[in-house]
Amino acid sequence: MSEWIKACNLDQVKKGELFGFVQDGRKLLIANIGGTIHATDLICTHADADLSTGFLNDQGVRCPLHLSVFNLVTGKPNNLPAETALKVYPVKINNSEIFVEI
Ligand code: FES
Repeated sequence: MSEWIKACNLDQVKKGELFGFVQDGRKLLIANIGGTIHATDLICTHADADLSTGFLNDQGVRCPLHLSVFNLVTGKPNNLPAETALKVYPVKINNSEIFVEI
């Protein structure tokens, strides 16, 4: 059964920014690409790297450790060494607050 959890306020993740948080042991990433909000797992699928410390561009988020870029719509890596997709989550915005369905 899924539930919606509050991630943060909309103004905490401006265009081009990343926001990582932990809820009930679950580590999640919020990203704002050109005004579109995405939610994925926070930790890279290749090794233990926090993607909120990575780099965001139009292609997605680039892992800070070995530089795989993950598409934030599909979760799939565009390049090696990561081979496994990140989990992606539905997002909704309500009263300037970002919610993620987990
Ligand atoms: S830890 Fe992310 S690509 Fe290696």
